[in-house]
Amino acid sequence: MKFETKVVRAGIKPEPHTGAIVPPIYQSTTFVLHEVGRDRGYDYTRASNPSRSQLETCLAAIEGGKYANCYSSGMASVDAVLRLFKPGDHIVCSDDVYGGVYRLFDNILKTYGLKFSFVNSSDPSQVKKAIRKSTKMIWIETPTNPLIKVTDLAAIGEIAKKHKLLYAVDSTFATPALLRPLEYGADIVMHSVTKYLSGHNQVIAGALITNSKDLHSKFHFIQKSVGAIPSPFDCWLVLSGLKTLSLRMERHSENGMAVAEFLEAHPKVKNIFYPGLESHPQHDIAKRQMKGGFSGMISFELKGGLAAGKKLMNSVKLAALAESLGSVETMITHPATMTHASVPKKDRMARGLTDGLVRISVGIEHKDDIIADLKQALAK
Ligand SMILES: Cc1ncc(COP(=O)(O)O)c(C=O)c1O
Repeated sequence: MKFETKVVRAGIKPEPHTGAIVPPIYQSTTFVLHEVGRDRGYDYTRASNPSRSQLETCLAAIEGGKYANCYSSGMASVDAVLRLFKPGDHIVCSDDVYGGVYRLFDNILKTYGLKFSFVNSSDPSQVKKAIRKSTKMIWIETPTNPLIKVTDLAAIGEIAKKHKLLYAVDSTFATPALLRPLEYGADIVMHSVTKYLSGHNQVIAGALITNSKDLHSKFHFIQKSVGAIPSPFDCWLVLSGLKTLSLRMERHSENGMAVAEFLEAHPKVKNIFYPGLESHPQHDIAKRQMKGGFSGMISFELKGGLAAGKKLMNSVKLAALAESLGSVETMITHPATMTHASVPKKDRMARGLTDGLVRISVGIEHKDDIIADLKQALAK
């Protein structure tokens, strides 16, 4: 089955008693057994639920993996991966990651004895250099939040294989419509399902996809033991949103390119980060590994720095000044005070995440309207 078919059909069967083409929401905590010791495939929703199984089947299929496990948020899915390790274990991580991931690693998991090295994974030699005897995993985010840096997934895959390390990729910005990290040797693909996969700013959820039965059963054990699972209704909403994923990603990418070209040519823009632009330092890698588009995430700085960025963000009318990304609505964000406020200023500065950086999640409205909005705000 092709990707466009899988997003609509994988995991979904008409409801057997009525033929309802949209499966019902299995909003039930528990399931009645046939008899003692013989259930019907489900017993208690923390462990598994039909609405969640349908979503997990669909996510595994579209990512090209065998198994998926869903969690109550993207962060809960990141946390589930990190529960595979023990004190003293070391993880090499992309330096430009979502602020919440950095906070979980640096503020919480470090206190439980895990060790982290944050390196610029766009340069594979830095990843290689950071590997120690105690290293257990390489954690890559690509494209990154918020500097939209791209990592060569095949190059990191070779390093992970050579050093026998677990290889996990946060592919939230790309989605399986544009990039499938398992094809590049990743063991685990992580998504904030909250973003493009769900696509409509209605659900917080996360997912892990893998080809390893062993990892899948560990992730399932963590789901039922920790209990950070999405509700049946949320799973149902995500399945609804997923049906248009390939269409939405085409439009997000088309609009993203148009907005990036507009901003790059604007005299008030100092620099811009979008992998579809030839000026992007990893444009060639992005072109090779992202199929059919570059998504809708753009970051840029204005010549007037923070003051000019604030003026722009306060002047947009169509774009919503809001946290989050990947929804149908265009959203504008100030990473330094919003998504990455938890990253200490000196760490932010060291990575090039300045106070003046503005991030746009380009939606699926008409591109002329999005550009007209930015134009009027930049004219202020
Ligand atoms: C790249 C990335 N990974 C993980 C997360 C965390 O996901 P959630 O907000 O669903 O917990 C986010 C949230 O913005 C993100 O942008």
